[in-house]
Amino acid sequence: MEERSAGTAADGKRARGRVGARATGGTPLVALSQVAAAPVARLQTGIGELDRVLGGGLVPGSLVLLGGSPGIGKSTLTNMALGNIAGAGHKTLYVSGEESAEQVRLRAERLQASALEVPVMAETDLDAVLDTIASHAPRVCVIDSVQTLRCGELSGAPGSVGQVREVAARIMDLAKARSIAVVLVGHVTKDGALAGPRVLEHLVDCVLQFEGERERPYRELRALKNRFGSTNEAGLFEMRQGGLVEVLDASARFVAEATHAPGSVVLAAMEGSRPLLVEVQALVSPSELEQPRRVVSGLDRNRLALVLAILGRHGGVGLGSHPPYDVFVNVVGGVRIDEPGVDLAIALAVASAAKGVALNGSPCGCFGELGLTGELRWVGHPERRLAEAARHGLSVVHAPAGSGQGAHEASTLRAALSVALPSGRTRPASVAA
Ligand SMILES: Nc1ncnc2c1ncn2[C@@H]1O[C@H](COP(=O)(O)OP(=O)(O)OP(=O)(O)O)[C@@H](O)[C@H]1O
Ligand SMILES: [Mg+2]
Repeated sequence: MEERSAGTAADGKRARGRVGARATGGTPLVALSQVAAAPVARLQTGIGELDRVLGGGLVPGSLVLLGGSPGIGKSTLTNMALGNIAGAGHKTLYVSGEESAEQVRLRAERLQASALEVPVMAETDLDAVLDTIASHAPRVCVIDSVQTLRCGELSGAPGSVGQVREVAARIMDLAKARSIAVVLVGHVTKDGALAGPRVLEHLVDCVLQFEGERERPYRELRALKNRFGSTNEAGLFEMRQGGLVEVLDASARFVAEATHAPGSVVLAAMEGSRPLLVEVQALVSPSELEQPRRVVSGLDRNRLALVLAILGRHGGVGLGSHPPYDVFVNVVGGVRIDEPGVDLAIALAVASAAKGVALNGSPCGCFGELGLTGELRWVGHPERRLAEAARHGLSVVHAPAGSGQGAHEASTLRAALSVALPSGRTRPASVAA
């Protein structure tokens, strides 16, 4: 059963108006080229990484949904953005349904000085919030969070499907009518999906996901949907005492931290249009379980299963049985890699861990996708990946054929393994473990 609010009189009038229009021949149509469209002036949040993920800044009248696990830094990020916008002389409003005004102030004290200029409203009643937004007329408004607001006309608890849908729809109406950019902070469920109805994601213009490991300071911001920009961009932050700090040269940091030990390889990945070097680590150890473990962090679990199968069938590195081996693969730094170029990194890291030897010329870099028949496939932007690797002093980069100058090219997984792994007798994983 799903609760909805009964249509108001205005809705009825609108519906009747529509029927009337049809009877008189409908609305005159215009070609797209004749539609007047003023260039949108985006509002910079002053946080470069956030602006980049948004596609250049906030679009007036748009709704942005920001999701993320508890305590990841959603309120910090929105506080900082509002602070910058207020500092630039625009009207802002921070609506907090979760924390009291004092709590919001305490957090703002950690941040830049202008964060304290933002007007805050601690309120959960939707009508009161809408009234305040309408009278205060901010350029940008943050609702933290959409799940805590309550529409009095519905009896459901805040956060229920009906409530969230109604709250978002009413805020959207106001935002579009007054050209206010609204950022809705949303909760995520245990498995990381945005809580609440899927319809919320359809409704808003932009869905941002803020993720990272609680224990690590790195946080990653991605766009899952963006009506005003690409969804390929990702922004990297570090949580510090003074708030979130943009990580501008993440590659340098990750390469400096790389261990170069057996089981370690540097992946030259692409994060949207930007190359990023990250360390991929693997550990292979005999399992006590009948069903050996396959544990990943920062990667897709199915991807590991696929690469292990290809390694066993076409790379001569079998980890399945007699004795079975547990395999752990980790992208260091709490970054999540979602691109096909990671395959070769997983394969090299696991092979190196299984044999208990460091890769030749370590630290070495790599990228490439594996095909099911053991071939190494070309992936996008090889020249940018290679340039990034060279910039950070990686002289050896294993890559698919056709990647260009400076790469150690190979056309199959077997060929890549034979170049990357030291020849001669190697310790089997059981001894290494
Ligand atoms: N003084 C500090 N130094 C460094 N990090 C801090 C400090 N104070 C708080 N943090 C970090 O900020 C996080 C809280 O940030 P924030 O309140 O923005 O998260 P949130 O995503 O809004 O959480 P919630 O889901 O509870 O609303 C804490 O988990 C902690 O990691
Ligand atoms: Mg919060």
